[in-house]
Amino acid sequence: KKLYAVIGDPIAHSMSPAMHNDLFGFYDIDAHYHALHVRKGDLQKAIIGLKAIQISGFNVTVPHKVDILPMLDRLDPLAEAIGAVNTVVNEDGELVGYNTDGEGSVKGIMNIIPDLFNHRILIVGAGGAARAIYFTLASMGIKNIDVTNRTSEKAAELIAQCPYTVNSSVLLREDAENDLDEYDIIIQTTSIGMAPNVECQPLSLHNLKENSFVSDIIYNPLETLFLRSAKDKGARTQNGIDMFVLQGALAFKKWTGIFPDQKRMEKLVLNRLG
Ligand code: ATR
Repeated sequence: KKLYAVIGDPIAHSMSPAMHNDLFGFYDIDAHYHALHVRKGDLQKAIIGLKAIQISGFNVTVPHKVDILPMLDRLDPLAEAIGAVNTVVNEDGELVGYNTDGEGSVKGIMNIIPDLFNHRILIVGAGGAARAIYFTLASMGIKNIDVTNRTSEKAAELIAQCPYTVNSSVLLREDAENDLDEYDIIIQTTSIGMAPNVECQPLSLHNLKENSFVSDIIYNPLETLFLRSAKDKGARTQNGIDMFVLQGALAFKKWTGIFPDQKRMEKLVLNRLG
């Protein structure tokens, strides 16, 4: 039996084991996916152990996504640029790090808007998730991406560190709010609005353009106040389920060669969220 896992702290509530084990069963693959509790100071030891037992692949979650980089044998160039890894593949004994978070989010958005060129995109936030999404879009040659963040310096840093050329501005919150009608796609990447603080939102959507598209990486609640406000303004919206499912689907593809049934994964995740 092949072994797969997710390492993180906390890890008990991860939906990844249920999602991947269901897929292994569905595609008749002799493998099992485990949730492994690995504390911050134990990462190096855990990696050595996982390599020793010849794990076939694993996901990496909080708090290890950045710390793991120097511990891997090779890095995919995009993961290296992002500076974070969420998926590791054992390629002939070498542990290779990838980042499917950004690609998962972008793929989800492209399911709704297939052509991202010629659209103006605003990213809200400048943390790890924003970085993965911004760098992924930039790696695809998309150039109209602005960033707004509570701390402008962090947004400026994110843009400056991107190895791909993008025409980006950093917007203060009030400028983003005033000029919101200039954007076609808004991607919310902060934790604002996540349960239990469901009455918070990072930005007022008063000036949102009708027919715009608003994506939020949060999936608990399924509809954040941000998405509800966007819907009220006539926007199309997407919650974080797609990104979560697609980052998993992209990892599964790297491990097995099969791009799994997205609808099946979505159903399972929604069931578990109750
Ligand atoms: P992740 O890796 O999950 O993206 P992170 O790196 O901690 O998490 O980033 C969190 C993002 O949410 C940042 O953009 C952060 O803004 P700052 O850079 O100003 O810290 C944003 N954020 C978190 N709490 C916030 C709050 N109460 N108000 C505004 N922005 C907030």
